[in-house]
Amino acid sequence: MTDDEPQGPRERTGPDLVVSRWVLLAMLGLGVGGFVAFRLLSASVPPPPPEVARDPFLMQGRGIFLARCLPCHGLEGKGDGPLASQITGPPVGNLTDAEWKHGDQPEQVVRIIREGASGTRMQGWGTVLDPPEQNAVAAYVYILAGRSVPEGLRGK
Ligand code: HEC
Repeated sequence: MTDDEPQGPRERTGPDLVVSRWVLLAMLGLGVGGFVAFRLLSASVPPPPPEVARDPFLMQGRGIFLARCLPCHGLEGKGDGPLASQITGPPVGNLTDAEWKHGDQPEQVVRIIREGASGTRMQGWGTVLDPPEQNAVAAYVYILAGRSVPEGLRGK
């Protein structure tokens, strides 16, 4: 009675197995590649200085800065991010300079972050970051500039 054995499904297991092996290999490859890329990229961001690391408010600001501002302002705020040379209009400027173009009062810094600088590629972040987030990233800008963080930015 072996003639009655269904052959179809068994024949199909061959190719399916090969395909699924390739899929598995491809997924492994993506996983390993992603991990390597992650390690390479994160290795280029040095750990925060201790004064930042022990302060959740500054760590929040740092996280926002690295995600949103680094492309233009650069890791250290010197205006040398990967996008800085590509943008049109006025240059990014160096946040570690002795003077800030738009003023160094906390209200002025927060306003630039919230509303941007018209006619420049500095957009307003008011629709992206809520007020506490604007304060946190502003505080981190003071850290980058080596200035003391205005207390008013906390818990405003
Ligand atoms: C697309 C590029 C770009 C991104 C992203 C960007 N900025 Fe800017 N930023 C600029 C440019 C260009 C200027 C200079 C504006 C000017 O000349 O008036 C500027 C100016 C500033 C200033 C004013 C500096 C001064 O001298 O007064 C602050 C503060 C600032 N940015 C903070 C931030 C923060 C915080 C973020 C992230 C939430 C951010 N920027 C994201 C391009 C960018």
